[in-house]
Amino acid sequence: MIIKPDGTVRRHVSAIVLKTLLDQGLRVKAFKEMSVPRSLAEKHYAVHKERPFFQWLVDFLTSAPVIVMILEGEDAIEKIRNALGKTFVQDADPTSLRGKYGIWKGVNIAHASDAPETAKNEIALWTSEGGLEVSSDAQALASQYIEHYIKSDIDMTMKIRKTVVDAIESNNTSEGTIDILTELLGKDSNGINQSDIRTLAKVIHDFILEEISNKNK
Ligand code: CDP
Ligand code: MG
Repeated sequence: MIIKPDGTVRRHVSAIVLKTLLDQGLRVKAFKEMSVPRSLAEKHYAVHKERPFFQWLVDFLTSAPVIVMILEGEDAIEKIRNALGKTFVQDADPTSLRGKYGIWKGVNIAHASDAPETAKNEIALWTSEGGLEVSSDAQALASQYIEHYIKSDIDMTMKIRKTVVDAIESNNTSEGTIDILTELLGKDSNGINQSDIRTLAKVIHDFILEEISNKNK
């Protein structure tokens, strides 16, 4: 499972994602916050490489740090994917994590393996190329993260979502949106570089431009 950049830079949101999963009895076997090399993101999403959104998706995953984890437990895949909700934020149940904290469409806060075989391959990839390691400290690291960040009640999701949706609906292609998104995404981003937050804001702006262009085709 990966908390994508739009989740990781928002510390309170990522703490809620983690807490929701741990509350279901899942155990954390590996836990790592990292920047993702482009080659790793391309391999991770290789199944989508012929899709029109592939390059954007790689830009997104590499824009700012992510939290990568190996979670273990009975029906782990089903539990995690149910907790996340449907892929597109606007289709996800409003009580699911993507429904509550996702930004819009595929800017959807987290990735989770979709089957045991995929999980096996993704774990092999992230351990060999991402330095992810099974460790007896992982559970404690995740618990500390939750404890540290759950208390703040900073949640800019609705403001960020509104900024994105309004821009798409009003065909607003202005780069001023990048400044607004950088500010909102940076409000609860302890330990994340400002330049990474801006890179993420630019990637979300690219998404806005793409949506506007598709709508007007
Ligand atoms: O993440 P999930 O397994 O639910 O969905 P997927 O179909 O495997 O797609 C992987 C990721 O690509 C999604 O989570 C979205 O971030 C992105 N995506 C997108 O941006 N536009 C699409 N039309 C489909 C997927
Ligand atoms: Mg998938």
